[in-house]
Amino acid sequence: MSMTKLIAVDRCQIGKGTFVVSGNRELAVFLLDAPERVFVMDNSCPHASGNLSGGEIHNGTVDCPWHHWEFDLTSGICTHSDRARVTCYEGQIRDGYVWAKLT
Ligand code: FES
Repeated sequence: MSMTKLIAVDRCQIGKGTFVVSGNRELAVFLLDAPERVFVMDNSCPHASGNLSGGEIHNGTVDCPWHHWEFDLTSGICTHSDRARVTCYEGQIRDGYVWAKLT
């Protein structure tokens, strides 16, 4: 599976989520620094479709802004219940853009 170009890195705020549409997918892109890295997951919270790109990041998780379920940025597993999970995608930063391996 090839990588898909999602968004220019300079359009993403460090430490925040960015909403990105790619084809028929709605994604949340999270750019962190020190070291610089990126996480990509589906934007819709599995609880009630909250906007995960609008969530706060802390301790490697994103906090859904609607009811505060937290999801691990790497695995997508909910910290409240491992039965709730968001699909995550391998992401990378290359040539000034965020790329992801969308499955
Ligand atoms: S919609 Fe995300 S926690 Fe409820």
